[in-house]
Parts: sequence; C-alpha cells; structure tokens
Amino acid sequence: MRNFWIDTDTASDDAVAILMALRWPDVNVVGISVVAGNVHVEKGAKNARYTVELCAKKTPVYLGASQPLVREPTWGYFFHGDDGMGNKNYPEPSLPLAEGNAVEALIDAVRSNPGNITLVTLGPFTNIALALRIAPDIAEKISMCYAMAGAAATLGNITPAAEFNVYVDPEAAKIVFDSGIPLLMVGWEHCRGQANLVEEEMAYVRTFNTPFADFAIDCNAHAISTNKEWLTEPGLALPDPVTMAIALDPSICTKRSPHFVDVEIESELTLGMTVVDQLGVTKKEKNIEVCWEIDIQGWKDLLYKTLQQE
Ligand code: RIB
Ligand code: CA
Repeated sequence: MRNFWIDTDTASDDAVAILMALRWPDVNVVGISVVAGNVHVEKGAKNARYTVELCAKKTPVYLGASQPLVREPTWGYFFHGDDGMGNKNYPEPSLPLAEGNAVEALIDAVRSNPGNITLVTLGPFTNIALALRIAPDIAEKISMCYAMAGAAATLGNITPAAEFNVYVDPEAAKIVFDSGIPLLMVGWEHCRGQANLVEEEMAYVRTFNTPFADFAIDCNAHAISTNKEWLTEPGLALPDPVTMAIALDPSICTKRSPHFVDVEIESELTLGMTVVDQLGVTKKEKNIEVCWEIDIQGWKDLLYKTLQQE
C-alpha cells in the first residue's frame, strides 16, 4: 500500500481529488489536513469530512491554518459557491473533526512513515510551510510531493501572473519550494481546454449511475458556470483531480523536468508568480520538478475509473 497525506482547501475540485485517492485500490490515505484557501478552514473541513463519509471511510480530517502566513486571506467563493460545493448545502457529516491540529498531525504522520508518505497538496501551502518550520526533518522523509500549484511559464488564473494556490500564500510556497522536498509542480494550465470535462463527458459520467459520479458533477455546478463565463473555458476544469491523477499514476505526466523555480513575494503586479528558470540561465540549483504535459485521455480515464462502482 502507498501512504498518502492530502493537504486541501476543500472546495468542489478538491473533493473530487480526495474521492479519487480514497477509492484508489493501493492507496492508504493516512490523513487529510485542511487549510484556508477556497473557503474558510472550518468550511473546508466540513466539505472534506462529507467527502470521506460519502466514500464510507473514517480517514481523519484535521483543522489547519485559518489564514496565510503573513497576508490577508483571498477566498474562492466566487468560483466554487458559498459553501464551496456548488451551493448544494450538503448535510453536516457525522464523521467528527480529528483531535489536534493539522500541522502536528502531518509532522507525526511523516515521521511515522519515513520514506513512505506521498504528500498531495491541493491548496495554499500554509500548513506545509508551518510544518517545515517546526520540523525541517520532514523534507527528507516525504517520498514525493505532488502539488497542484502555479503556472509554469504561462498565465495565471487569479491574476495575469499567478495561480490561486500560490497567490493566496506566496511566502508559504517559497518556503516549500526551497525546502528540499521532492516536488512535482502541476500548474493550473494542465486542467484547461481539452483537459476540461465537456458536457458530453459529464453526461457520460452520469451514466455510471453511482453516488460518486453524481457527486463529482453536482458539487462542481457553480465551478462549471464560473469556468465557462469567467475563464471562457469549454466545461468543467478540475485542477486538483488532474494533480491527484498524476499522484496515483505518475505516467499521466508525460513531460517533466527539474528546474530552479522561484515565487514572487514582493511585486504587486506579479505577486505569486511561479518563475520557472526553464533554460537554466540563473545557474541556480534546480529545486523542484515541473510538469509540462499530461496524457489528457489517461487523466480522464483514471477519473472515470474512480467514479464507477468498484
Ligand atoms: O488554481 C486552482 C486551485 O485553486 C485549485 O486547487 C482550486 O481548488 C483552488 O484551490
Ligand atoms: Ca484546491
């Protein structure tokens, strides 16, 4: 079994990614840490617990950072809806919040599974940065981190320069990128265009006739309309599920390479920009890997597999 730890600002696309991991046969999700981002951390924790319960699991969900390290929060309600889940107002799950804070729980999980913990980050890096400040030793104990973060040599989604997860807490992203954690950055660009689920594909998902398939589409209702109207995209963009698909089957990332990547933390114009030294002109040490291409049909087929009945 592969041990996973998921850090998430659980809104609708995060929820699908969490569901994918919980339903993947050879993955054991040791824990889920929630961070402020799309929605307030308490709301994200409810959404995560609801998703865990839908999958008939008891995976512990921990409350983490309620705001970025140094900045005021930037919320994603405009994109995901008031509850972060397409305004479906799902009921309060019976699964309680796990005792203790997310950062300590993450540190304990990594130290208890040295070399066998895959970290998947689906939100701002606040919890991970705090964990690294408290326990720098975890950087070498994490076997791999797959991060839904940034925009590699391309435009952002929350500003012309920055992707949301990095923009919300750029200082945290910089700490994580410079920590030595083996990390593959999967930018938002990989969920765009052809990688969207279009209406026909969403209709195909509905034919699975499972609670997982209906949930995946229903909770993304608000995201679908915002994605089309605001970002002029063809359908449903699922950045976190694309990253989770790569974590579950790394061959879905068909082109990747190590580079020096830095994060803008000062300029107002480009705050949160992930600056990738693609040509090596800075001569600085390559700190993370960047995903440049994905197998689009492979990503969708893996998603479908997790939404159908086992
Ligand atoms: O930019 C996309 C990211 O921001 C996704 O993780 C989405 O859930 C939001 O957190
Ligand atoms: Ca997210």
